[in-house]
Amino acid sequence: MIGVLTFWETFVGVDNPIYLADIWKDTIKPLGATNLFYIDEEGLNPKHGDESLPCKIYPALDDFIAEHKDKTLVYLEAKRNIPEAIKYQELKDFKHPKENVIYLLGKDSSSLPLETLPLKSNFVVSISTRDNLALWSIVVAGIVLYDRKVKQ
Ligand SMILES: C[S@@+](CC[C@H](N)C(=O)[O-])C[C@H]1O[C@@H](n2cnc3c(N)ncnc32)[C@H](O)[C@@H]1O
Repeated sequence: MIGVLTFWETFVGVDNPIYLADIWKDTIKPLGATNLFYIDEEGLNPKHGDESLPCKIYPALDDFIAEHKDKTLVYLEAKRNIPEAIKYQELKDFKHPKENVIYLLGKDSSSLPLETLPLKSNFVVSISTRDNLALWSIVVAGIVLYDRKVKQ
């Protein structure tokens, strides 16, 4: 499995969330992801129309973590949101796990709660950017999956 987890939330200015779910699918599937996971705290029930990319929805991040203890989790986070005590790697130096890996992205309105997440045997990875600015999560998903593809 090459999975991707993202949060689904109300986006100001996006009138049609179905369209946005298709953009997620059309970003990660061509770059090799096999599964999509949503954290849907608001009960918005995102859906895309492609059964070849299975999608599973969880009400909270803890539920997702509890169900995927057998996977290697790669937490993507902008440097400015990584607490000092937490070690991270730059994406350019990162060796991607071959299989059973899920790349986790935080909410666009906040960030991943790294201090509360299981870090042992998992990885924190960051993409270097101008002035350490944060990127939109969907853009990060595309960059990371492309990096994985070209390093194989
Ligand atoms: C839009 S960002 C959240 C930014 C946050 N609201 C802020 O102001 O710093 C959403 C998610 O994209 C991912 N992300 C953003 N920039 C990143 C970077 N430079 N490297 C790795 N992941 C990044 C992280 O998972 C982050 O939680």
